[in-house]
Amino acid sequence: MKQGTLHRALCIVNRQLIIVAMATLVACTKAPVYTDSSASVEQRVEDLLKRMTLEEKVGQMNQLVGVNHIRMNDGVLTEEEILAHNALACYPGYTADSIEQMVQQGLVGSFLHVVTLTEANYLQSLALQSRLGIPILFGIDAIHGNAKFCGCTVYPTNIGVACSFDTAMAYRIAKETAQEMRACNMHWTFNPDVEIARDPRWGRCGETYGEDPYLVSLMGAQTVRGFEQNNVLSCLKHLVAGGQSSNGTNGAPTDLSERTLREMFFPPFQAGVAAGAGSVMMAHNELNGVPCHTNAWLMTDILRKEWHFHGFIVSDWIDIERVAAIHHTANDNQDAYYQAILAGIDMHMHGPEWQQAVVELVRQGKISEKRIDQSVRRILTAKFQLGLFEHPYATAEDSARICFSEAHQQTALQASEQSIVLLKNDGILPLQQEVWKGKHILVTGINADDANIMGDWTDPQPADHCWTVLRGLQESAPEIHFDFVNQGWDPRNMNPQQVQKAAQVARTTDLNIVVCGEYMARYRWHDRTGGEDTDRSDNYLVGLQEELIRQVAASGKPTILIYITGRPLSLPWAQDNLSAILYAWEPGQMGGKALARILWGEVNPSAKMAISVPYHVGQCQMIYNHKPSLALHPYVLGPTQPLYAFGEGLSYTRFAYSNAHLQNDTLFVDVSNTGEREGVEITQLYVHDDVASVTRPVKELKAFRRTALQPGQTVTLTFPITDDMLAFYTADNTLRVEPGTFTFMVGGSSKNEDLLKVVGSR
Ligand code: BGC
Repeated sequence: MKQGTLHRALCIVNRQLIIVAMATLVACTKAPVYTDSSASVEQRVEDLLKRMTLEEKVGQMNQLVGVNHIRMNDGVLTEEEILAHNALACYPGYTADSIEQMVQQGLVGSFLHVVTLTEANYLQSLALQSRLGIPILFGIDAIHGNAKFCGCTVYPTNIGVACSFDTAMAYRIAKETAQEMRACNMHWTFNPDVEIARDPRWGRCGETYGEDPYLVSLMGAQTVRGFEQNNVLSCLKHLVAGGQSSNGTNGAPTDLSERTLREMFFPPFQAGVAAGAGSVMMAHNELNGVPCHTNAWLMTDILRKEWHFHGFIVSDWIDIERVAAIHHTANDNQDAYYQAILAGIDMHMHGPEWQQAVVELVRQGKISEKRIDQSVRRILTAKFQLGLFEHPYATAEDSARICFSEAHQQTALQASEQSIVLLKNDGILPLQQEVWKGKHILVTGINADDANIMGDWTDPQPADHCWTVLRGLQESAPEIHFDFVNQGWDPRNMNPQQVQKAAQVARTTDLNIVVCGEYMARYRWHDRTGGEDTDRSDNYLVGLQEELIRQVAASGKPTILIYITGRPLSLPWAQDNLSAILYAWEPGQMGGKALARILWGEVNPSAKMAISVPYHVGQCQMIYNHKPSLALHPYVLGPTQPLYAFGEGLSYTRFAYSNAHLQNDTLFVDVSNTGEREGVEITQLYVHDDVASVTRPVKELKAFRRTALQPGQTVTLTFPITDDMLAFYTADNTLRVEPGTFTFMVGGSSKNEDLLKVVGSR
């Protein structure tokens, strides 16, 4: 071949090689589908899944506590302490640095207990350095506001919100909390707690929406919508029935019939799933002999197959490990992981041991990789839907602008005002500022001037963000002298001399306000008397609180009692002897302001109890929707009724009901404001099936309305009667309406004397 021809031929070959090389390069550098935000979530998930190693997949199913949290507890806790605790954690054998390395290797899907934006963004940056750059999903207990972050808005806890019977308020709180969470780079809240609280000994009543399945379902579903529609993943918890455990303690066994489960405990979960909840958390407790965490019936048959839940299921705090350590239905942790995954668990809260143990289970052929893919697919779907690949970080500017904004403070204040229940008023309330001007009012009690008013699940907040009762009163009435006698914050260690001092001051003042209750602040975990893991064997006031109230009242001056608590506390003596009683629950950051506005009459109280208060725990289970034979043989000594009933609550005006009747499947009733000022009435409709194939509760809440009424105004409320109000699980356990008569009861509380009755038939 001639030189020139050869040269030309070589040039052609070179050109072709260059073209092939360039094409290969383009193919290689073309961004993978999972990084393409214009591809569908499904395409992205499948593309990513096929690129992942088994180790990376198992890592996505794992959650760890934040490294700052680990550093805090490193070497401080023993293994027993770790297992016994629901808030502290450390990982023996792992340092914070080794955890960070796991993140960089793409072996951690989620973190919890990260409570600063700096840490969240830092951990996220490590995750983005991993081979596939899958972002971390940050979960947090944003139970009543993103309150574990300093500087966020703290709303009342769920029990208070439930007492407002205002489901739109539940939505608004969730929406604002979601906005604050995303501004702090948090994506997933472990809320709402839709358990049914049927035992006041249980420390967690305040996290729930109370004892009624209908109210809890509506509140829970609106909370789910508030989060999910605002780019935050919600979590229905805890499946199931922890609110009716043996002895009322957290995580103790529950043994319940399928009918009771389906009628009382399942509806709020089912409603939450229908509202779009993205995740569900299993309960600490065993159910009918099977730990919830390895309960295939609950997770697979009910949740997935019956309710069509598409999100992912997370375990609760080291509860899979407890299947071996506490329940003894697994040989060891690996066996527990095996059982939990086969039963339906998708994500493990929390700890690094999971990683190797689960990889081994797959390598040994005990769990198929297909099963692992199922869980990872669900978790990745959530991450894509939340937009984490496009928005992995938040900025300090965002959080400064969004958190604790003026609008959110207003919501918190209104929510507080609507959640405070007035239970007794001999006419002293509302207080007239002109009457008390220049006079002295004693303010005392462990909750009179403490940030504990914010409630459980709150980390310390800036002092000026929290209105205690004393601060609320002082700011609202500068011309009145508030004589504060400090009782400290700790109900267990009250000082008898301070009690005496309050009694002494009460003799010189004109009015007394005692703010009593529980201590819930998480940052003093070991000193708490209310909140998670603070179950009690009675429901009286702890320490010298009753003594304080009696001594102060002995002055003969009018005494107002305010409860700050998550659980129903009882002091029957106070009901008989004091001038006014308010249940403020855990009213949040604006609690003191809200209480002051109610005491001065700037706000007319409207809330009603979402949970019954028994006289004492010997009466447990004291629920309004009990079966007819509950009081067949009443107690020989002491009442059979609760101290305060479900649905009960007073106003500064009066409401009257009349003209209840049924017409074409609609119940009509007139409600009138017969008092002197405007107010909001919460009307409740209860139903009882007169004769049925199985025993039915004496009454069940089926509808309610909040109505604002001017003095003298009457409105006619209408309640369509639908089949789902009348259906129940019949003798053969099917959900249907049995023909016959039904008694409809409508009025201002669940007490018979407050209800008008109408009988109808189907
Ligand atoms: C609680 C859960 C909570 C989790 C994470 C557990 O002890 O039961 O409700 O979400 O801790 O803090």
